[in-house]
Amino acid sequence: MDRISMKIGAVFFITILLVEGISLYFLHSSIIHSRIDEELASLQTRGNNHRDILETSYLEETIHHITSMESRTDTHVVITDKNGGIVSSSIPVDRTITDIIEKSPMDIARDGLILEDDWQDKKYIASVSPLDNNGAVYMFKNTQRVQGLIARLNKHFWLAGILLLSSMAIITLFLSRFITKPVIKMNEATLKIRKGDYSVTLPRLGNDELGELGESIQVLADDLNHIKKQRNEFLASISHELRTPLTYIKGYADIAGKHGTAPEERIRYLQIIHEEAAKLSGLIKGLFDLAKMDENSFTINKEKLELCVFLRGIYTKIQPSYIEKKITLNFICDGEVYIEADPVRLEQIILNLLDNARKYSEAGSTTTIEVFKKSGKTHLLVKDEGKGIPKEDIPWIFDRFYRVDKSRSKALGGSGLGLAIVKELIEAHGGKITCTSQLHAGSTFEIIL
Ligand SMILES: Nc1ncnc2c1ncn2[C@@H]1O[C@H](COP(=O)(O)OP(=O)(O)OP(=O)(O)O)[C@@H](O)[C@H]1O
Ligand SMILES: [Mg+2]
Repeated sequence: MDRISMKIGAVFFITILLVEGISLYFLHSSIIHSRIDEELASLQTRGNNHRDILETSYLEETIHHITSMESRTDTHVVITDKNGGIVSSSIPVDRTITDIIEKSPMDIARDGLILEDDWQDKKYIASVSPLDNNGAVYMFKNTQRVQGLIARLNKHFWLAGILLLSSMAIITLFLSRFITKPVIKMNEATLKIRKGDYSVTLPRLGNDELGELGESIQVLADDLNHIKKQRNEFLASISHELRTPLTYIKGYADIAGKHGTAPEERIRYLQIIHEEAAKLSGLIKGLFDLAKMDENSFTINKEKLELCVFLRGIYTKIQPSYIEKKITLNFICDGEVYIEADPVRLEQIILNLLDNARKYSEAGSTTTIEVFKKSGKTHLLVKDEGKGIPKEDIPWIFDRFYRVDKSRSKALGGSGLGLAIVKELIEAHGGKITCTSQLHAGSTFEIIL
């Protein structure tokens, strides 16, 4: 048996024991009381009846009749005269009886009086009824009889108590099991999670708080499972991404180091090595940024910026690379648009998008940066007329290492981290980024701040 149902069961059982014990005790004593009261009242009534008969005919014959009648019952009668002398009795008069008679008071109400009610320690219970000739009718009953009666009653009480208790014990056992079952299930699940096994499935445990707790544990386990999987995939991607440029570097370094490699060849190889190394350091920087974002240790220092002025600065900086690729770069931003943003991060965002637009566009096309305000929000568009993104790829392009073109072609060989970083940065600003794209027609990235 598990500890928790033991505990609950014990508390239950002790409470029931107490309640049952106390109520049985009071029931018992009140039944005994009324039983004894009944005995006493019937004794007194019997005495009164004899008295009434004697008052109508105080004759030898009547007296004899009464005593002989009483000697056949479990009650006894003693009739006295006005001096207290015994006229007649149904039992041999012993010391106890004379004691009781002597101690009885002088003035007694007509209804009579209980002279002895101690049924536990005395030999008799007794009552007296006064006669109008100043004599009296004394009634006695052996307490042994009363005690026997009470003993039978007690036996019944014990039987009932034991029956009640054992049935309560069984009910408690089942009830505590029933109540604690969900808790035990959840405990097993969390123990499993603690050991690193996230594949737990908890059944529906009801609509109460315990049920909700079970559901939360299930959600947590699923989340942990998802995170574990994601981390494994992420590590696999990283090692893959690092390996490819390193293989290039190693390979070209080998050839370049060989005797007999022509100097111009060697220079070309060294150039490739340089490019790959630059790519590697870009990749590592991106990873580092993302890692910092993941653990929330990077800070956004927001400043008030005038977006048009700010973007014009970036536009001037990047335009030469567009001119070189013969792509027109347009800039539409009129009026004053003030926003709160971290200028360093915002520049990183815009440069990433413009870098993509240029990378994935052909010579002769146009790329546009556009800013406008709509219902209190600032919209920033980077629109290109490049190769576009297939519809089925759009939902994934913001994922780490995701590239539409899986082969790392030299010209388009990005790491696939750019948009992941962009998205994290924008969300850290409290903004949103969406992408709409038409294959072979162009893509639009829209930032809403
Ligand atoms: N303007 C765009 N036009 C067409 N495809 C795009 C555009 N921007 C992104 N993509 C697609 O989305 C993928 C992910 O972009 P992302 O910027 O994250 O990575 P990347 O450019 O390949 O590498 P990195 O930016 O890290 O150098 C790209 O590989 C490309 O296939
Ligand atoms: Mg990119």
